[in-house]
Amino acid sequence: MKVLLVASEVAPVIKIGGLGDVIGALPKALEKISVNVDVIVPFFPSVNTEGLELYKTFDLHVPFANESNIVEVFKTKLPGSNVDLYLLKNAKYFVGGSNFFANNITETQMFAFFNKAVVEYVKSSFNTYDIVHCNDWHTGLVTAMLKDELGSERPRTLFTIHNLNYQGIGGPALLRDTGIVPGEHPLIDWDLADGDLNMMQQGITSSDFINTVSPSYAKEILTKEFGSGFEDILKSREGRLSGILNGIDYAAHPRSYDINSVEEGKKEAKKVLLDRLKIDKKYKNSPVFSFVGRIDGFQKGLDIIFEALPDLLKDDAVFLLLGTGDKTWEQKLIDLSNDKTINDKFSCNIMFDLELANLMYAGSDFLVVPSRYEPCGLIQMIAMWYGTLPVVHDVGGLKDSVKNGENGFVFNRYSSGALLTSLKEALSVYGTERMQEMIQNSMQKDFGWEQSAVEYKKLYERILS
Ligand code: GLC
Repeated sequence: MKVLLVASEVAPVIKIGGLGDVIGALPKALEKISVNVDVIVPFFPSVNTEGLELYKTFDLHVPFANESNIVEVFKTKLPGSNVDLYLLKNAKYFVGGSNFFANNITETQMFAFFNKAVVEYVKSSFNTYDIVHCNDWHTGLVTAMLKDELGSERPRTLFTIHNLNYQGIGGPALLRDTGIVPGEHPLIDWDLADGDLNMMQQGITSSDFINTVSPSYAKEILTKEFGSGFEDILKSREGRLSGILNGIDYAAHPRSYDINSVEEGKKEAKKVLLDRLKIDKKYKNSPVFSFVGRIDGFQKGLDIIFEALPDLLKDDAVFLLLGTGDKTWEQKLIDLSNDKTINDKFSCNIMFDLELANLMYAGSDFLVVPSRYEPCGLIQMIAMWYGTLPVVHDVGGLKDSVKNGENGFVFNRYSSGALLTSLKEALSVYGTERMQEMIQNSMQKDFGWEQSAVEYKKLYERILS
């Protein structure tokens, strides 16, 4: 079985978010159980080529927007593995980074072009892939174009939803650019009827199978609350929809202690962390809560943190935050951290810093993940590996990985009140025997990729049968 994994990012070569972590780790785990997987991504200028042996293989001629565009195909190995990684280079379309709109190219055009290039690549590699495994809206048009180009000879397709809320909505002209002929694809015509082309919708409706990154999210997206308008479409495809919990790549998260030395190890890590963030020495034994992640006011629960924080900090507690994103929310959080009554207990770090993130996972006592919705979420699992107890909302992958009172704290209702109750429960176990037991439980959990890879292999086999 030969699989082509298609995505917009792959860690550690290009990493923007959790999607990159998954695309970087899943193929390595699949390789270990004898699934032959190649990965293909755009060659953005921001690609980290350090230590990569990169060589150019061939050129593709990609028809797009009434032009024949040359795409250079570079090949390398995914670091730490024998997995072939293909990077598609084109100076006009793959500008990437924060500069999506350079050359007057929109994000949807960029990825529609990427999809077209992937299809040309599949053709030029003699159509040897059994499965093309697409990820999120950035790859949503691949299946429709494969059908056009290869008909019934095309590889089977799997479309993985990592986050239904980011959809990639482009104008109808996008269709013309890709060369897809209107009138020949009922699903595309249906999508266009409202005046735009939704790449997430295309991925969902055209792919042979669909999955998401946790079993709970796979059920949640069938409801109005979590379905982002796709609940009915998804329900009609329920028989082909499943959920597989992501794993985490332990190698990417070094720690200086293990389950037997966690008490001492965490003390040391906490000291380093609090010193680094210049927290007053008088708080050196206080419980430390952290938030690490994208500053996304809708998804990540920042509104309820914002409301609960002043109350939490009336107790003996310190709160650390690390992340970047939505400017309005960044400013609100900075303003709150300047409030005189709490400014020595709330450290607000608006930045992207992987090393500080790892230090926070290790040196904090609790990691707060109060997301409104969370397809999988990786950081609660990473926290547990470091013996840091997660405080989470009962949704998606958070629900599937944290058990209340056993290895973390889970609250049911999305509200600052419910969050605060959970945070206070965490405070009440702080420093007790019970807390040490919970830490042991959390560190015993194995969230490695092995099990998830076995599930993907089974799904691939199902798709082929
Ligand atoms: C998205 C989701 C997150 C998931 C990640 C990897 O970022 O929001 O929940 O863990 O993709 O699948």
